[in-house]
Amino acid sequence: MFVLIIQVITIVLALTISHQHRLIASPIVVPVNKHTDAAKPLYSALAHFNTSYNWHNQNGAPISEPEPEQRLLIDLDAPFIWHYSYPRQESCDTCPLSVTCRESPCTDLRTTFSYQSPSCPQPTNHSLYDGYYDCEFCPVNIINPVTGLCEQVIATYDQIMFPLNNSDVYISYYPTAGSTPPWTFDQFPANVFGVIALSSSEYALPAYLHDPVKKVIALCLPSTLSAPGALFLGAGPYYLPPPRSNVDVRSFISYVNLLKRPNSFGYFIGVEAIVIKNRSINVPGNVTAKISTLDPYTTLRTDVYNSVVRRFSKVTKRIPPAKAVEPFGVCFNVTSGGNGTKVPDIDLVLEGGKKWSISTANSMKQVTDDVACLAVVDGGPMSEHVIVVGAYQLEDNFLVFDLENGSFGFSSSLLRRQTSCSNFK
Ligand SMILES: *[C@@H]1O[C@H](CO)[C@@H](O)[C@H](O)[C@H]1NC(C)=O
Ligand SMILES: *[C@@H]1O[C@H](CO)[C@@H](O)[C@H](O)[C@H]1NC(C)=O
Ligand SMILES: *[C@@H]1O[C@H](CO)[C@@H](O)[C@H](O)[C@H]1NC(C)=O
Ligand SMILES: *[C@@H]1O[C@H](CO)[C@@H](O)[C@H](O)[C@H]1NC(C)=O
Ligand SMILES: *[C@@H]1O[C@H](CO)[C@@H](O)[C@H](O)[C@H]1NC(C)=O
Ligand SMILES: *[C@@H]1O[C@H](CO)[C@@H](O)[C@H](O)[C@H]1NC(C)=O
Ligand SMILES: *[C@@H]1O[C@H](CO)[C@@H](O)[C@H](O)[C@H]1NC(C)=O
Ligand SMILES: *[C@@H]1O[C@H](CO)[C@@H](O)[C@H](O)[C@H]1NC(C)=O
Repeated sequence: MFVLIIQVITIVLALTISHQHRLIASPIVVPVNKHTDAAKPLYSALAHFNTSYNWHNQNGAPISEPEPEQRLLIDLDAPFIWHYSYPRQESCDTCPLSVTCRESPCTDLRTTFSYQSPSCPQPTNHSLYDGYYDCEFCPVNIINPVTGLCEQVIATYDQIMFPLNNSDVYISYYPTAGSTPPWTFDQFPANVFGVIALSSSEYALPAYLHDPVKKVIALCLPSTLSAPGALFLGAGPYYLPPPRSNVDVRSFISYVNLLKRPNSFGYFIGVEAIVIKNRSINVPGNVTAKISTLDPYTTLRTDVYNSVVRRFSKVTKRIPPAKAVEPFGVCFNVTSGGNGTKVPDIDLVLEGGKKWSISTANSMKQVTDDVACLAVVDGGPMSEHVIVVGAYQLEDNFLVFDLENGSFGFSSSLLRRQTSCSNFK
């Protein structure tokens, strides 16, 4: 008996140590896919939930099979995770446990950590689920990032898991998340059934990353549908794939401070100037730029947009122009240039003069065989943010959001380093 106990303890210790070792050795790598089948290009990551999802129709038949893994839309702004699931009721042991309206996460999600939109109705304690008394559920408003419409989810205590190093060992987090039926995702890319909140909110995923994984995420969005990019949960090293697996991506990265803005859990950085071919474009005062994976292209307030376009047109005079293609304002006939059309970098000059260089792959978007456009759009004279750095400009860039020390790391284009986001396994 005694020997048996010793053996059990030894096995438990061995397992614990090996898990610790795995955890410390490297961040968790989650594949990130690009989707172009919705109203705008979007990116998703694969997560596992240890809970049951089957919603039933009126005849009691499951609407779709329970899935152990779900694709979630990457959102740097969302205050909390929400996905397709069914909150716990008597007959469902493995469903996420619902939060009642008396518990503090309910108040938190409805007030401090809520989506901000005047279009949302006041939340009530009545749920969209039939047959339940007041307060058994906590309906919370969300803004659907694809349609922009206000909808409701039910707050639950959930379990989200990620495989460690492609093995069958999982690391679990227990977030307070939103549960919602599958039809909420009708306008999402195919097979995407939720939102993975990567913001600085206390209810977003980074806040749940715990020792030995640090509250640091790194994002490398793919530019292609054919090979995934990567989301890293935890601090580096972030090694390049073979044959350059001795290179830590952190050696390419510059850091600046992340800034806070009222009413947002998103990520902002200070921009001192925009420089194109040695000429600095005035940005009024110290402008903050928002980093967004939901805005497909960089959006500039009209005054800044006009200055950038004027300068960019000047330095690209040798490329024949083409009729502008919506939503862009500046396009070129690139027939003669083939795919060799190169344009000068657009440099975002950040804090301390650090330069985030936007090179051709991120500044020019091929819209037809012979037309390529400057992938920047006019946000209007009153746009909420002067600069929003959109997803097209983030592709094949390695970005680090370090919530331990409030810093933002950026690599500029990895293509210049003879690699890309699609090279991570
Ligand atoms: C992850 O896998 C790679 C190769 O598959 C291996 O070299 C590395 O040691 C593993 N890391 C951990 C933490 O297990
Ligand atoms: C996750 O689910 C599997 C099978 O459904 C179960 O064996 C396991 O214990 C669950 N893990 C946790 C942490 O609940
Ligand atoms: C919901 O119920 C809680 C707890 O009873 C109460 O504090 C809150 O005011 C109610 N909210 C609404 C909108 O009725
Ligand atoms: C940019 O400015 C530097 C110094 O101000 C100058 O040496 C360099 O020639 C300029 N480059 C171009 C392309 O004009
Ligand atoms: C910009 O910010 C820096 C540091 O925060 C400050 O020193 C400088 O005065 C600011 N400039 C303007 C024009 O606001
Ligand atoms: C681009 O230029 C070529 C050759 O000059 C011309 O045949 C073609 O129609 C032009 N395409 C557009 C979209 O302007
Ligand atoms: C574009 O460039 C690649 C290599 O840089 C080359 O393989 C390809 O043939 C080129 N395509 C066209 C249409 O010129
Ligand atoms: C934040 O931490 C990273 C390492 O995780 C470090 O490289 C970076 O310099 C730090 N940034 C600041 C502003 O301290």
